Amino acid sequence: MGYQSISVEKMTGSLGAEIKGVDLSRPLSNSAAADIRQALVDHLVIFFRDQKLTPEQHLEFSLLFGPLQRVPYVRPMEGYPDIIAVLKEADEKKISTFGNAWHSDFSFLDEPPMASLLYGIEIPGHGGDTLWINMYEAYEALSDGMKRMLRGLRAMHNGRPYGMGGVPKDLRTSRSIGIERNNPDADREIAHPVVRLHPESGRKALFVNSIYTGRFEDMSEAESRPLLDYLYQHCLRPEFSCRFRWQPGSLAVWDNRCTMHYAVNDYDGSRRLLHRTQVQGEKPVLAD
Ligand SMILES: [Fe+2]
Repeated sequence: MGYQSISVEKMTGSLGAEIKGVDLSRPLSNSAAADIRQALVDHLVIFFRDQKLTPEQHLEFSLLFGPLQRVPYVRPMEGYPDIIAVLKEADEKKISTFGNAWHSDFSFLDEPPMASLLYGIEIPGHGGDTLWINMYEAYEALSDGMKRMLRGLRAMHNGRPYGMGGVPKDLRTSRSIGIERNNPDADREIAHPVVRLHPESGRKALFVNSIYTGRFEDMSEAESRPLLDYLYQHCLRPEFSCRFRWQPGSLAVWDNRCTMHYAVNDYDGSRRLLHRTQVQGEKPVLAD
């Protein structure tokens, strides 16, 4: 894959690449902008190091990928309705954190965000990494028989962590991020294809995740559980993954249409702060 204005270093055999030679605080040339968009399609998640971005510059760069989508159920940053502060304070210990299970962002929306951008501001001395999974490869590694069975299936997604069921009563959650709970709107189920066609790459990706996908369409949760559990477990082969060690000034951009990710919660006692935006996506398209 040829890039004219950036240099690209792959992180693993599966997905993830670090982009070098760009200062995102300055206006991008047309060729650098096109290269970065192409790198996201090629590598599914891209990383930049040592960037110095104001919230305005973070918003400006996010627009490279499309119009912004406001994050639902999470309190926005003061003065910036399109940015949320992903924050855990040093004194918030033994709690559940944002993104601490495998998921594709807000997959329960009619039009889930196509991309998310996360910018590191305060990063613990160790821990707090994020992992991604390549959901094209997860799909491609299934047997022909399983692919045939999944073809045409839809699964029901819902925003249960924000809904009336909420999180278990005994689970402590972070107060710093400001997540809205008990909103009946979030309990609404949305059917999305189990195998979705990526509009830019033309490839098929598995599109179910353990936070938001409750069951297959026209099936009960109990009936769906064994196959969903199998698929979740299948996706987690280390060969499909990459893991990113954050530093202040790191920026990650990922494609929610063909990846899942997981925020590791292993940094109790340290403050961790990142700014997050997301880009409007389309209604997932069924792959035939
Ligand atoms: Fe997430």
